[in-house]
Amino acid sequence: MADKELVITREEIVRRVKELGAEISRDYENNRFLVVGILNGAFMFTADLVREIKCDIEIDFIRVASYGMDTTAGTLRFTKDIELEIQGKDILIVEDIVDSGRTMMYLANSFAERGAHSIRFCVLIDKKERREVDLCPDYIGFEVPGGFLVGYGLDCREQFRHLPDIYHLQE
Ligand code: PRP
Repeated sequence: MADKELVITREEIVRRVKELGAEISRDYENNRFLVVGILNGAFMFTADLVREIKCDIEIDFIRVASYGMDTTAGTLRFTKDIELEIQGKDILIVEDIVDSGRTMMYLANSFAERGAHSIRFCVLIDKKERREVDLCPDYIGFEVPGGFLVGYGLDCREQFRHLPDIYHLQE
């Protein structure tokens, strides 16, 4: 097994997720909205976050994949699309990591084209310095500069998603 360095503990995650849930609940002021979790990475974060949201919400999941090795907008596609109605709704998209930001851009355009009333992003980890598009998440759990992270939903070739803490995977 590869060496891993603990970066964010489960206690820190619990604390931050509570804060995010409170902030989101305040911002939406008891209005109903639709939470869209991005599979697979955000499954755990989404499950924890929605339990901290006090508003009336709907929940659905989507999955996005790229044809090639990168995530340039043209190469992205839905491998599982949303099943609930988008038209006229306020939407909160929940992501595990924002890296280049191209997935976020693709999703923002796709949901806007389909008539969302508003679109906000909540991301657990923002790798801000790697951004290639001019888009910033509305809610950010942690800003982590470099390194390959695993655990709490994040994987390396589908391993480590189940770990309750977040680790930096050593080369
Ligand atoms: C990760 C992450 C985002 C995307 C971010 O997904 O969950 O969706 O990459 O990258 P970007 O900002 O450069 O577009 P990944 O393809 O690893 O799939 P997974 O969620 O199934 O692990």
